[in-house]
Amino acid sequence: MNHQGPAERSVILGTGSALPARRVTNAELAETVDTSDEWITERTGIKARYIAAPEETTGTLAIGAARAALAAADLKGADIDLIVLATATPDHTFPATATKVQAAIGMTGGMAFDVAAVCSGFLYALSVADSMLRTGMARKALVIGAETFSRILDWEDRGTCVLFGDGAGAVVLGLETSEADDSAPRGILTTELHADGRHHDLLYVDGGPSTTGTVGKVRMKGREVFRHAVVNLAEVMEQVLHRVGMTSADVDWVVPHQANARILDATARKLNLSPEKVVVTVDQHANTSAASVPLALDTAVRDGRIKRGDLLVLEAMGGGLTWGAAVVRY
Ligand code: ACO
Repeated sequence: MNHQGPAERSVILGTGSALPARRVTNAELAETVDTSDEWITERTGIKARYIAAPEETTGTLAIGAARAALAAADLKGADIDLIVLATATPDHTFPATATKVQAAIGMTGGMAFDVAAVCSGFLYALSVADSMLRTGMARKALVIGAETFSRILDWEDRGTCVLFGDGAGAVVLGLETSEADDSAPRGILTTELHADGRHHDLLYVDGGPSTTGTVGKVRMKGREVFRHAVVNLAEVMEQVLHRVGMTSADVDWVVPHQANARILDATARKLNLSPEKVVVTVDQHANTSAASVPLALDTAVRDGRIKRGDLLVLEAMGGGLTWGAAVVRY
């Protein structure tokens, strides 16, 4: 793909997010789980997370984020002809949660489907939607990451249950053609996706419709995931920057998957990136899996950190293992 100069690119027209009503601090969690604010803060940087009530689902959170993103883009549901929703915690085994969003926003045509790449899901969904827009299959897309991980946590396993939270984030993408003399065109400049299924057992859910017939719970080998995350994320970020002829010095903001403050620090150090350029929301949201990148993006857009024209690198790694990155001029 042509990364600079005239081309049709997918641009972010608006962002939105939604969180459950209930915020749970580490201290509150320590009342029912054998843990402490001190341990969680020191190991992860997490201070609080949002936990969905029974009537709050991946679908309702996704609808909230989608409506906010549409409002920010000044568009209606009927203007959208593609929804790609990333989730590992769909409302139902089928149909796709994306179709619930489609009905709720009043979109009667077009396409709607889910993708599953766990914490990397938003990067996968963004890349799929970008490809479909640029090949003419759709004109305007809603790309959503939405999760209710609290439903698949083993609340007896303190090594995992303290790390995750619920939420949703969304972006509206539309096509824009840059002028021939535009040296800094906006939009998605490149994306890169990876998977390595040999590492299935490092992070997985021990249930599913075709195996146990149950939903299952999250299982994780935390230390090994940590090790892979730092190596893979630094590598894929270097890959995408190199492809668009840039270095970490050109980056205004890294919008990373919010798994753990220590992973964010270690990755930034490896890339020689100043920590001030990294959007951090893991302290307030914990790890919201596929929702974490668009949730962090929307947070930083709304509080004024990310401005039009800024060069962003989005990145994520998760179960599979899967990982990916994107370079976007906002
Ligand atoms: N509260 C108190 N103590 C705890 C807790 C807890 N919540 N969890 C574990 N411990 C204890 C353990 O029992 C162990 O005690 P012991 O030494 O007496 O046996 C001790 O703390 C150390 O346990 P480890 O699991 O070795 O702790 P580690 O330093 O590896 O930290 C952590 C664990 C935070 C999970 C870390 O491995 C990590 O961040 N890994 C990355 C995982 C991740 O972020 N996954 C998200 C999905 S993938 C992604 O998004 C990139």
